[in-house]
This record gives sequence, C-alpha cells and structure tokens, in this order.
Amino acid sequence: MGDFMIVKDLSDDFPMIRKVNYLSTASIGLVPNPVIETTKNFFTEMARKGTLALDEEKEVKIYENLRKEGSQLLNCNPKDIAVFNSVSEALNSVAWSLELKEGKLVSTEIEFPSVSYPLFRIAENENITVKLVKADNWTISLDEILAEIDETTKAVFITHVEFLTGQQHDLKKITDQAHDFGSLVVVDGIQAAGYLPIDVRKLGIDVYITGSYKWLLAPFGTAIAYISKDLYEALTPTFVGWRSSEDMWDFNPLELKFPPTAMKFEYSTSAYGVKIGLAEAIKYLHEIGINNIYHHNMKLSELLINELKSIENVRIITPEKKASIVTFKIKDVDLRKIGEELRKLKRPIELNIRQNMIRISLHVYNTEEDVLQLIENLKKLFKRRNA
Ligand SMILES: Cc1ncc(COP(=O)(O)O)c(C=O)c1O
Repeated sequence: MGDFMIVKDLSDDFPMIRKVNYLSTASIGLVPNPVIETTKNFFTEMARKGTLALDEEKEVKIYENLRKEGSQLLNCNPKDIAVFNSVSEALNSVAWSLELKEGKLVSTEIEFPSVSYPLFRIAENENITVKLVKADNWTISLDEILAEIDETTKAVFITHVEFLTGQQHDLKKITDQAHDFGSLVVVDGIQAAGYLPIDVRKLGIDVYITGSYKWLLAPFGTAIAYISKDLYEALTPTFVGWRSSEDMWDFNPLELKFPPTAMKFEYSTSAYGVKIGLAEAIKYLHEIGINNIYHHNMKLSELLINELKSIENVRIITPEKKASIVTFKIKDVDLRKIGEELRKLKRPIELNIRQNMIRISLHVYNTEEDVLQLIENLKKLFKRRNA
C-alpha cells in the first residue's frame, strides 16, 4: 500500500471520487475545487462588472501568468509560450504558418484526427504528400517512423502519448533524426502534460502543444504551445487579429508589427477565466509534484496491467512503452453492455469505450482501490456471462 501513498488523499478537492470510480481523464479531467472557485469567481466578477473587473493591465497579467506556469511545466522560457483556445487551433495555426510548398509530412495512422486532418488539407497542394506510419497490432514502431524521416520530410506531427492506446513515443530519437534532415517536429502533448515530466529543451522539440481539460485538470477552452525561438522568429502567423500586434493597446489598423516572442501567434479576445483556471491548475499539479504524480500514475497502470493479465480473454493493447492510459479488448464481449453495467454499480465506474476497446485513464485522484474495484467487477461480470 505504501507505494501508492505518494499522493495524499485528494477527495476534498475532487469530492465526486468518494462516490464514483472515475477512470476517464483521457476524455475529460476533473477540476479541483480551488481551480473551480478561482475560475468561477473571475467569470462572476467579469459578468457583473465588465471593465471594472478586467482592465488592460489585468488582461496582460492573466496571459503572463499562464505563460509563466506553462513554461515551468514544459521547461522553457515564458517567451516561448503562445496561448491558444484549443489544441486543434494551435495545431492548425502552426501547420499553416509553415507555408509549405513541397515535400513530405509524416504522422501515424492512429493519431487523434486533429493531428492528421490539417495535414490532409495542406496536402491538397499536389507537391505535398502525407505519410501515415502504419500500426502493427495498434503499436507504432519507432524504426518505422525513423525510416520515413528523410531529406524530403518537412515536418513530423505526432502525439507524445497516443490517445487510444497510451503508447508513449520516443520524441528525442524522432527529433534527433528529423533535425539531421532539416525537418521539424510538432507534438500534441494533451495526453501527456500533467503527469509526464516534460523538458522540451532536452527533447529538442520545435513545437509542443497541450490543452487544459484533460490531465492538466483545468476547464475547457484553452491550450498552450511551446514554439522554439528559432521557429517563432522564422514563422509568420497565418491567423492575425488585434492581439497580434506588439502594441495591441494602440489599436492601430494601419500597421501590423508582431511581438518578438511566441506571443505573435495570439490574436484574439478569449475566455480569460479559463486562462486563469489553467494557470491555477498547473500550480496545483506542481504543488503535488509532477514526478510524484508520474510515479503514482505509473504504479497504478502497472497494477492494472498485471491484474488484467489474470482475466481470461483480455488482450492488452497498450504497448510496453506506456503512460497513464491502459487499453484492452475482451474477446466475444459487447463492451457497451459492460460499460453500462459498470455504471449501475453502487460506486459506479466511469471509463471510455473506443473502437471496441476499453480505455482506462489513471490520474492523481485515482487509488489502488479504484483499480481493484474495476478488476473485481470485470471478473464478476465475466463469471456471470460464462455461467
Ligand atoms: C491527442 C488529442 N489531441 C487533441 C484533442 C482535442 O483537442 P481540442 O479539443 O483542444 O482541439 C484530443 C481530445 O481528445 C486528443 O486526445
């Protein structure tokens, strides 16, 4: 038990976990009470008081604070952080501003659609091709990714942790090879940031994007991106608006001069309350410690995988190089029905069913008991079915 006590009891901050076994963070993370309060208070103040609650100085500070927290999460300079409204927006913004005229874009065939779709649109230009590395048994081989990175490759778009299978990619090896060929690496880290220690400088990545509402435990509506200094200096954003200007408070419609930082990718008014919420949530995670959360989550993932191995007909899909997502199939079973039955329990179990697989996410508020309750009930359900 001791090993599972790295993280203290968080049920006061996430009261629902007393009643529900929540294994669904890869879909939506729970937001801790202090973050809900901060976000709610800002929304209420804003709604009631308008500019009395949000003046220019305050607005600048909201972004500065989020850039500071984001830079500590990813280990970079706050000037390298751009604030967006969603991961898809950030991916599109970066992808289009590469202004590619020819060459190959590399990704994998099991990515989240927000990663591959922008590439398909860009490849409507006949001189650009997209190569999606094939999965073998839901696993993408590093060697096959590396084999696709050659002198024609302009950029690799990949998730740090695969949304469906929890496979964790070796970003350092991918980046080293990509840079040898003058190619960029753009990473979607929404299934990684919040529990995996991330050091964008050590990894040498060009762009690392993550969003608020999963493992970072913040509300919907914001995302941050690390963009390397070399890259943001070289790129011109495709989308622009009043916040694109270095002197945005001058509201000068006659001249557009970008700021000399990654901020040049920010362009519009947005939901400021969730920006405050995300900064607060990152602070909350840092107070517990990302390393502590990582060890906690990995211990739970390992326990789950070991226990699943004792259930007949279960096939684990998550590969060896895993993270906090564990995915499995069960032969000859209607998984939707299993999901429904688990929701009917006295302490309901909330999980995800995707492409006829069960996806379990284990985060800081989960415990050893959560894993064992799931296993016990899966075993009971199969016994009933086989009787
Ligand atoms: C890997 C990955 N990228 C992006 C997203 C969605 O990002 P957004 O809704 O912020 O555009 C998801 C959501 O499940 C995801 O799993």
